This record gives sequence, C-alpha cells and structure tokens, in this order.
Amino acid sequence: MHDATGQYYDTHAEQLAARYRVADVTPLHILLRRWLPASGSVLEIGCGIGRESAFMSAFGLDVLATDASEPMLAQARLAPGNERVTFQPAAFPLRPGHPLLQARFDSVVAIAVLMHVPDHELFDLAFQIRGLLNPGGRFICSFCSGRTPSEEDPRLYAAREPGEVRLLFERLGFTFLKKEENKDGLGRGTRWTTLVFSYLWRNRLATGGVAI
Ligand SMILES: C[S@@+](CC[C@H](N)C(=O)[O-])C[C@H]1O[C@@H](n2cnc3c(N)ncnc32)[C@H](O)[C@@H]1O
Repeated sequence: MHDATGQYYDTHAEQLAARYRVADVTPLHILLRRWLPASGSVLEIGCGIGRESAFMSAFGLDVLATDASEPMLAQARLAPGNERVTFQPAAFPLRPGHPLLQARFDSVVAIAVLMHVPDHELFDLAFQIRGLLNPGGRFICSFCSGRTPSEEDPRLYAAREPGEVRLLFERLGFTFLKKEENKDGLGRGTRWTTLVFSYLWRNRLATGGVAI
C-alpha cells in the first residue's frame, strides 16, 4: 500500500465521502449490472464509501467489501443499503499468509483503485485476484488517467494504460470481455477506464491444478 495514499484516505474520509456521494455513477452501475453474475459472491477491493457494495447487495449478490482505510470503512458501514454487506479492512496486495487468500469468490471488483497501487505491487495484486476467483469468475476494475499528485493531495496516481492492464491480466490467463471509457462522475478533467475480464481456470486445469 502506498503510504501517502493510505494516510490521505485515513485523514480525509469524511470530506471524501461527502464528495463521492454526489458523483454520477450511472454508467458504472449499468456496467456492473450487465457484467456481474445475477447471484453469488463478490469481493470488493477498495470499497470506499460503500456505494457499489450497496448497489451489488441490492441486486442479490453476497458482498464482502474491503478497504485499506478504516475511516473509509466506517463511512461505508453507515451508508444505506449495506445492511447485508460484510466489511473487512484489507490492504492489497495482501501479505503472504493472509487468511483472505484462502477465500474464493464468483467475482472481484476494484473500482477506482488500480491507479493507487504502485507499479511494483501491481503484479502481486493481479496474481492474488486470480487466486481469489472461482472457475469462470469475473473481474471488473476501473482506474483513471490524467491526474497527478499535488501538495494538498499526495495520493499516488500511477499512469495505468488500459492496454497494459489488459495485457497483464491476459498474461495471467484472464479473458478480456469489455472496455468502457467514461468521463469523471464529479465533472473533473479525469477520464475513467473500466475493464471486464473472466477467468476460466484453463491454465490451472492444463497443468493439473497448479496455477501458472
Ligand atoms: C478513489 S477511492 C474509490 C472508492 C470506491 N471504490 C469508489 O469508487 O467510490 C479508492 C479507495 O481505495 C482504497 N485503497 C487504495 N489503495 C488500496 C489498496 N492498496 N488496498 C485496498 N484499498 C485501497 C482507498 O482507501 C479508497 O477508499
């Protein structure tokens, strides 16, 4: 976890929650509804204020919502619609031996998180996501481009090229299903890319169950 990013979310949770609550996330919610299975389990990485966890829970998914920041999780727990959601603090990539690495989900979702993950942690994160998915599982991620850290906001905004992210997951055996580009829901100059993948476990089966 990038230190300055974690500290920023810890110390600005209330202020960020007020801002995120008014974002227009209609295109994202249409995409989630279209590409997530109608039932089953989903792990959310970086759930923030719990807006998507409530949305996914409302359409019948069994949601485990995680975030590295306890103050952000506190905001999420308060959000309406999260009564059936389970919350857990977790910074990704998880440390080796973390109990959550033993869990399996039908889907993993990481909305507006990958640009906060340093380059040297990105492969481990992708590898862990693969291990957390059931056969045929879905992975949906979004990330922004065009933002840079400032003195007031020192969060990491790693330049994530959609083609590079797609290649990383494809090299791990994921099948690319969909790319969508949207303008910022808060009207800033930022562009957002959302990618949808499935993981069929072909490679594991081909190697007798050993993940390659
Ligand atoms: C831009 S906010 C997005 C929150 C929410 N997904 C949304 O779209 O509104 C990023 C969230 O990811 C969390 N986060 C950042 N890096 C993380 C990491 N390495 N592991 C887990 N959570 C992380 C932050 O604490 C923050 O709540």
